[in-house]
Amino acid sequence: MKRRNFLLAGAASTLGVAFLGTQSLYANDIFEEERAFNIPPLYEGEVVNGKRIFNLELQRGEMEFFKGLKTQTIGINGAFLGPTLRAKKGDFININVKNSLGYDSTLHWHGFELPARMDGGPHQIIENNTTWKPEFAVTNRASFLWYHSHLFHQTGNQVYKGLAGMFIIDDDESQKLPLPNEYGIDDIPIVLQDRNFNSDGSFRYISSMPEVMMGLHGNYVLINGVIAPTFKAKKKLTRFRILNGSNARFYMLGFSDYRKFKIIATDGGLLEKPVSSKQVRLAPGERVEIVVDLNDGKDVVLKSFKGATSQNMGMMGMMMGNMGFDAEFDLMKIKAGEAKSSGTDVPSVLSIHPKWNPKDARAGRDMVLSMGMGMMMGGGNSNGDRFFINDKAMDMNRIDVVAKKDTFEIWKIINKSPMSHPFHIHNTQFKILAINGRHPNAYEQGFKDTVIVDPMSEAYVMLSFKNYSDNKIPYMFHCHILEHEDRGMMGQFLVT
Ligand code: C2O
Ligand code: CU
Ligand code: CU
Repeated sequence: MKRRNFLLAGAASTLGVAFLGTQSLYANDIFEEERAFNIPPLYEGEVVNGKRIFNLELQRGEMEFFKGLKTQTIGINGAFLGPTLRAKKGDFININVKNSLGYDSTLHWHGFELPARMDGGPHQIIENNTTWKPEFAVTNRASFLWYHSHLFHQTGNQVYKGLAGMFIIDDDESQKLPLPNEYGIDDIPIVLQDRNFNSDGSFRYISSMPEVMMGLHGNYVLINGVIAPTFKAKKKLTRFRILNGSNARFYMLGFSDYRKFKIIATDGGLLEKPVSSKQVRLAPGERVEIVVDLNDGKDVVLKSFKGATSQNMGMMGMMMGNMGFDAEFDLMKIKAGEAKSSGTDVPSVLSIHPKWNPKDARAGRDMVLSMGMGMMMGGGNSNGDRFFINDKAMDMNRIDVVAKKDTFEIWKIINKSPMSHPFHIHNTQFKILAINGRHPNAYEQGFKDTVIVDPMSEAYVMLSFKNYSDNKIPYMFHCHILEHEDRGMMGQFLVT
């Protein structure tokens, strides 16, 4: 049977079948047909009068994820996803976001510290045929951030169809370090997004209550918009900036030969020191940067291993396991045969982080995450919301927290539900003080904007709200499983 037929059969078999079953995501010969690795175009804007200007257009398009089958998509300056934007700390950026979708959208700058009205959350709706013009100073340290739709109740749907892109920030510190940093050569961005397809090639989004509850899990993982691509390495030391842009799937990333790699950065940029590891767990919204040594010249497969979702969750765990949510599967192939040697190794010191003292926190807050009773039976409140923070579902007219500018706070995020939630907070890069009853692991000690809170467990994070205040326009905090966020697990805070 030809590869193409197999994929068609695979796509067709998802018709009417909500879940994968116990087998892995796709057959082992997924790499038989070589699909080229896609590097999203780099877009550094144009500098005019000291401002860095980006022109973005939200538009509809069409992709051919499977040969001969068309998929209707949406993208930014292209059919699916957007360019990788790049700017430097200290830049003042102006972005023109034109909406040509035919319906409302928003564009949120995930991970940025910025004024609330520039955030691109649910309050900054961009109507069809209008242009939204956010502008702000880049104050974040060097890091790998991203941007995506954040329309209330529609984030899952719009991101699924393609409204997302990556954003790289540089600074003096990062530019001086001898790390792989040539975009598309030895500095490779990767966005992981799992999807389901109907037999005609169209995307299949939510179609059952369990998919709402667990969040959408797809049978195919797109790597920068391509299923199981082959990446031909150019350099023996290659840096991958990996974004989990999936709606709900967690990954336990590692290599097929269990080789160690170096974790150099998390959501908010460089760690103080590289951390050597064989695996790293990545939840929706999170990023990690790793450097892989390909000196042996051997081909290797980037995979997701078991253990990505929490193992100890009773009924729900059994259910998710049975549905293949915690499967082991291949993501992309790396060919190292023609890679050229690179100059230096990863430096042993990457950065020095400011030391925050928990005693300096002005306020402490509890955020209790829960899921509605009788979920499977369609329970929830009268709006159909089934996911809550402090027993409340998101309300655009309610402010949940008022914080003070230029202060620290400690938030205790308590998960009273049977599944893991990646909790994300806008406008800040925080530090994890404690997580799931333990001290954060070395790689969890970097700056973060999203933290995994496992079932019946909690995380303490220390937040800093700098520079900006607004008495009316809020920022969001929410679970980054987009089906949860869209159905209530989100709240609003002001910084005044
Ligand atoms: Cu990436 Cu409020 O989200
Ligand atoms: Cu965000
Ligand atoms: Cu959640």
